Amino acid sequence: MPNSKAQIANRKILVLHGPNLNLLGRREPETYGRVTLAEIDAALQEAAAERGVELRIVQSNHEGVLIDAIQEALAWADGIVINPGAYTHTSVALRDAIAGAGLPAVEVHLSNVYAREEFRHKSLIAPVCVGQISGFGWRSYVLGLEALLDHLESANERMGE
Ligand code: DQA
Repeated sequence: MPNSKAQIANRKILVLHGPNLNLLGRREPETYGRVTLAEIDAALQEAAAERGVELRIVQSNHEGVLIDAIQEALAWADGIVINPGAYTHTSVALRDAIAGAGLPAVEVHLSNVYAREEFRHKSLIAPVCVGQISGFGWRSYVLGLEALLDHLESANERMGE
């Protein structure tokens, strides 16, 4: 069993927040809670520091900006944590960007998308991700980061590094 809190040297992770997530804290708090995006980013930075990992965090309301960030991540990142927001359910372009980058990605959602409207039950992104975490509020992000780091570590072990 790998030590899930192990320090990982030199890992770099891109965290992507999609549209409307900049409004967290005051956006539909009954669904998304009252935690702001800045507070989520701080929790992520704390979890990353515990594991010795560097995070770069981008929020955008624009599909193309998210796609550019994924393409640029090819040059520096080991993996991606992404909450694609509503693009989860609509964006072939975002899915193609993740598939094309070939970096391991974990999809996260604050709300349990499967307990909501039917149009949210389908993710175009999840099939090109390692996995998906949905329904744990802001903790989904931290769980997603931990899952991605553990995935990277076990991939290394399989390669005998
Ligand atoms: C969301 C779920 C999406 O369906 C929605 O469009 C969002 C937020 C979530 O984190 O629960 O913007 O990704």
